[in-house]
Amino acid sequence: MSPRFPVFGTPYTSNAIRVLMLGAGELGKEVIIELQRLGVEVIAVDRYAKAPGHQVAHRSYVVDMTDGNAIRAIIEKEQPHLVVPEIEAIATQTLLEIEAEGKVEIIPTARAAFLTMNREGIRRLAAEDLGLPTSPYYFAHSYEELEKAIHEKIGFPCFVKPVMSSSGKGQSRLMGPADVRAAWDYAASSGRVDTGKVIVEGMIDFDYEITQLTVRACNADGQIETSFCEPIGHVQKNGDYVESWQPMKMSDIAKKRSQEIAKKVTDSLGGRGVFGVELFVRGDEVWFSEVSPRPHDTGLVTLVTQFQSEFELHAKAILGLPVNVKLKESGASAVIYGGVNHPGVGFSGVEKALQVEGVSLRLFGKPEAFIKRRMGVALAIASSTDEARNLAKEASGQVTVIV
Ligand SMILES: Nc1ncnc2c1ncn2[C@@H]1O[C@H](COP(=O)(O)OP(=O)(O)OP(=O)(O)O)[C@@H](O)[C@H]1O
Ligand SMILES: [Mg+2]
Repeated sequence: MSPRFPVFGTPYTSNAIRVLMLGAGELGKEVIIELQRLGVEVIAVDRYAKAPGHQVAHRSYVVDMTDGNAIRAIIEKEQPHLVVPEIEAIATQTLLEIEAEGKVEIIPTARAAFLTMNREGIRRLAAEDLGLPTSPYYFAHSYEELEKAIHEKIGFPCFVKPVMSSSGKGQSRLMGPADVRAAWDYAASSGRVDTGKVIVEGMIDFDYEITQLTVRACNADGQIETSFCEPIGHVQKNGDYVESWQPMKMSDIAKKRSQEIAKKVTDSLGGRGVFGVELFVRGDEVWFSEVSPRPHDTGLVTLVTQFQSEFELHAKAILGLPVNVKLKESGASAVIYGGVNHPGVGFSGVEKALQVEGVSLRLFGKPEAFIKRRMGVALAIASSTDEARNLAKEASGQVTVIV
């Protein structure tokens, strides 16, 4: 088999390799920078203007990415070689059709984008088709059905989530019967698309949770091979990540089980690229939670811990190039939130944050801050992950958003 792109081209010429990014947030921005470094021509799409990835791409578009016709029009105009979804909320039906037409490759596959945009697709694949351990779950179409499912099947504590949502939006943890009504109302009002359907999951009483970054990339013979990054530990607040570190210390058995689960799920989704497999761990037991068929927010830490960050790995894997997943240093990341609702904010204290040895910073350049919007991240390396976590938190605390 020959490499995916035997010849690399020059941007703005007829031999350019063209990549269309669907989503241009902070994760897409880092992938674009890696593509730019290899002279790839990048077209970035997002739902709002001046998104982080727009600022570093060759061309940009602003469209509603759940509008299949809008996505098709851009693909027909730009004729990209690869289409790379960066977010879940995309007209994945259109991606399935476009992939079937055979002219464009969808990363990692249109089916992966389709299945993971809806919790039902990926949960049924993992639990029912692949037989992976997951929390007990039930999909409910109404308040009455939800109440009955919790009462008869799932019990308390449990989680209720809209089938289409991310970053903890519309998600509740329920401790008892008094919480069910509010959880249903919250899920119904904050899902991405009001499908009127929720998943209820029994709570897994885990010791810790990890992201197992898994890469499907071509080896020297052009065959797809799976590699595993060191596990990333993280802390989530209200379903959104606030802190992550790598490597997460795990028992050998738990680590092996995590890789086995990650291999099964990524083999099934197929294609090339980075996947963020979210797992819950208690002792030697491991449960599959969900998977992103793309770089993962908790993996921002790899910008300082690995020889090749998850963004470089994704860029290389999708282009058909070999990858190196080795860890270089122990490190951690701590999120910098907007803390205010305001456009065009400033950041003070950057020089103080960077005085801390081992610390780096990313400010994403988002045009508008929201209280709970991720505006930047502090990164730190140190001789242990505990020390790195302290440094990253100290550094993120030095940065103040000003209006
Ligand atoms: N069944 C469960 N048992 C225990 N904890 C859970 C369960 N479901 C969710 N959580 C907690 O809530 C967090 C967010 O859940 P989940 O990943 O399903 O939401 P999300 O909206 O897809 O978030 P993101 O897009 O940030 O990954 C998990 O990382 C975990 O900390
Ligand atoms: Mg998650």
